[in-house]
Amino acid sequence: MREGTAPIIRREDYQAPAYWIRTVDLSFDLDPAKTLVINKMTIERNAELPVQSLRLDGEDLNLTRVMVNGEPATFRVENDQLVLDALPDGPFTLEVRNTIAPEKNLQLSGLYTSGGGFFTQCEAQGFRRISYFLDRPDVMAVYTVTLRADAEKYPVLLGNGNLVAQGELDGGRHFAKWHDPFPKPSYLFALVAAKLVSREQKIVSRSGKEHLLQVYVRAGDLDKTEHAMNSLIASVVWDEARFGLPLDLERFMIVAVSDFNMGAMENKGLNIFNTKFVLASPATATDADFANIESVVAHEYFHNWTGNRVTCRDWFQLSLKEGLTVYRDQEFSQDMAGEASARAVKRIEDVRQLRQFQFPEDAGPMAHPVRPEQYQAIDNFYTATVYEKGAEVVRMMATLVGRRGFAKGMTLYFQRHDGQAVTCDDFAQAIADANPGSELAERLDAFKRWYSQAGTPQVTARGAYDAAARTYTLELAQTGTPNPGQPHRLPSVIPFAMGLLASDDGSALPLQLADEPGDTGTHRVLVLAEAEQRFVFVNVDREPVPSLLRGYSAPVHLDAALADTALLTLLQHDSDAFNRWEAGQQLALNRLLAALRGGSTQLDAAFIDAMRGVLRHPTLDAALKELVLTLPSETVVAEELGAEVDPARIHALREGFRLQLAQALRDDWVWAFETQAPIGGYSPDARAAGQRALVNLALSMLVLDATASGDTVWPGRAYQRFKDATSMSERFGALTALVNAHAELAAPALERFHALFADEALVIDKWFALQAGAPEPLGEGAGAVFERVRTLAQHPDFTLRNPNRARSLLMPLTLMNPAAFHRADAAGYVFWADKVVEVDAFNPQLASRLARSLDRWRLLAEPYRSAAREAIARVAARAELSDDTREIVTRSLQ
Ligand code: ARG
Ligand code: ZN
Repeated sequence: MREGTAPIIRREDYQAPAYWIRTVDLSFDLDPAKTLVINKMTIERNAELPVQSLRLDGEDLNLTRVMVNGEPATFRVENDQLVLDALPDGPFTLEVRNTIAPEKNLQLSGLYTSGGGFFTQCEAQGFRRISYFLDRPDVMAVYTVTLRADAEKYPVLLGNGNLVAQGELDGGRHFAKWHDPFPKPSYLFALVAAKLVSREQKIVSRSGKEHLLQVYVRAGDLDKTEHAMNSLIASVVWDEARFGLPLDLERFMIVAVSDFNMGAMENKGLNIFNTKFVLASPATATDADFANIESVVAHEYFHNWTGNRVTCRDWFQLSLKEGLTVYRDQEFSQDMAGEASARAVKRIEDVRQLRQFQFPEDAGPMAHPVRPEQYQAIDNFYTATVYEKGAEVVRMMATLVGRRGFAKGMTLYFQRHDGQAVTCDDFAQAIADANPGSELAERLDAFKRWYSQAGTPQVTARGAYDAAARTYTLELAQTGTPNPGQPHRLPSVIPFAMGLLASDDGSALPLQLADEPGDTGTHRVLVLAEAEQRFVFVNVDREPVPSLLRGYSAPVHLDAALADTALLTLLQHDSDAFNRWEAGQQLALNRLLAALRGGSTQLDAAFIDAMRGVLRHPTLDAALKELVLTLPSETVVAEELGAEVDPARIHALREGFRLQLAQALRDDWVWAFETQAPIGGYSPDARAAGQRALVNLALSMLVLDATASGDTVWPGRAYQRFKDATSMSERFGALTALVNAHAELAAPALERFHALFADEALVIDKWFALQAGAPEPLGEGAGAVFERVRTLAQHPDFTLRNPNRARSLLMPLTLMNPAAFHRADAAGYVFWADKVVEVDAFNPQLASRLARSLDRWRLLAEPYRSAAREAIARVAARAELSDDTREIVTRSLQ
């Protein structure tokens, strides 16, 4: 592992490679302790650049020989790079031999072992840990790969592309040879050698071509692959139907591995997945797990075009593939969800994620533009900003050019760039060029500030109705903080979807701007492109309530300062389901913030009645009800507060509100619990999942109310439901209700749950996560959840070596459970620092993720703030720290 201070890599320093690698012939003699890698490349000098040394990247490699055109060559190794001079002027072959030790590779980047098999992870810079190479995405080569391994231990040998030969070898070994006809960057290389079984499905695409789809897992897990396979088939169909993008391979494989740093990886034809995003059965996976699998399978499959066929020129362009592919998987999941209200539910969930993770990032020490300007460790920039905000940027483009315009833009993008490594500018240009005259094309340069300016813009909206003139004037203004090092921020181009509702009965009012001949319907997208703009609507007969930023049409903070009455109208009547939810959240947030600032800690009748109205609503989706009835998270409240955050206080107030909602709506929760469950056997579809979510919320509220009042009926019913449940969603919902209410029956239920699923690693992860994420009790028992986590860290099932298990305990505590983590005695920070240091010694990527949990320490009130700073400083002071973690803690202290 490299230590010390890594150099800063800057976007403006990009240079084309001095050499091109055209073909790669790789052979592996796989052995956990010592794998021999022979790498034969055909290389050409980049004739457009002056003659330079060839510098190949390498890391932790044991070099044994270097040959040029079949002859031993002179070379040197300089800062990990293999350097060759005086190379032939024309194309030449370079053969490099080296050995590596996969079983010692605990950072899970490059070639490593897991559960007795071999797996790879090469994005972003893992390939250099396998062999010397130009390990950068703009060097694209055609790969032929031969794998040799013990036939009994590793019966399955997989590579990218097509299987071209296989057979037996002496000494109980066998081989397989794979050829991938598509030139690709090294980060898309993959191999697998393991004892696995597969679910297979043949499909015929629109063109009549047959394809083989395979999902590879360990032998005992085959019964948990149906949903992943169904999701893959649906993804293939969707990409062809919506964007005309067909599957370009004879064979498409997904392989599940239980040790994996990330969610999944889109290696050409050979996606490698964290088991968490493949394995599901109704008995072991919740509805959320099913939904995540659907979206991650789709995401990786969609990368085949957006990422693989067209890839990134350099890592600053990461959002070119990630933002676009997240947008595509979000759209896919919406289409799978079906009806408009189910689509809105998915949109709400995505926006919730954005606010929970991306907003804090964009306001903290790691804030960076969607296209970052610099980095030290690229793995630190696989962020919510690059992914989720990047997806919002693509979504805004789609909003500005319309659905068909966007599809046309995609077509042009592939016409221009198929087979190339390109930039975010190239993408935006293609979408704009395919839509001449559109708002995007007209304002492209200004729009692209979304790629270059960090921070969440703030939009202030103020409306005024003039009854006599029958006009409604909407004034919009935008502000934001400039990037570090930039003098000022320039205005963003903000698509601002909106409508007007009549304040008396909530009906939709026709929209006509002053210079327009007639109305344009009841919904429209304004474009805010200046620092301030005024829109005057005419022929407005009745006092309106504005419904602003519908569907969350831009990733901004909106300050509309709407009165409660207006918010209540929106909650009841808005045709935009997203804004109904938003109005409910705003009502709750206003109350939480007021209480934090010394106002009433009692919920008012108007709010409670509104919540009852939603819960009892005859036609609203169950999923939407569940979302509206869930108060904004403690993190969201802290971000809104913006300074002097006391996590314990926010927690106490929010829990107080939750209890009031539980009590005030008791009869309604009983009604929901008893009547709203889906009928029939388990199906993970959005509608049934939403019904189960609402029933689970109802049960949680009933158990919360009962434990507060000392009643034992509802805890007893929850325990019974926990025991009798026919699906994990039900079982885990009941368990959650008991654990989160600190009911006495929580302990026996947890014990029983552990015993039932002792052999299911992913379920045991849930068991840890539930306990680490449980709300701290108020008053006397406070601190119990943190103590439990400390104890669980010593549990025989706990290990930091497996990323899923490590995250299952550490992330819910440090990222999702502010009141348990932030303690006046600083014990949470000490625990955090210890774990960051411990993990960093063997897995920097995992450690640097964990290191980010204290990003927002500056928001905290004393004594938290000083204690948090001290803990970060303690980590930063260590001489031995990976580049990844050092970059995070250094930025955090700056
Ligand atoms: N490209 C993968 C995905 O989004 C993620 C790879 C992450 N790798 C990393 N080193 N952070 O699907
Ligand atoms: Zn991705």
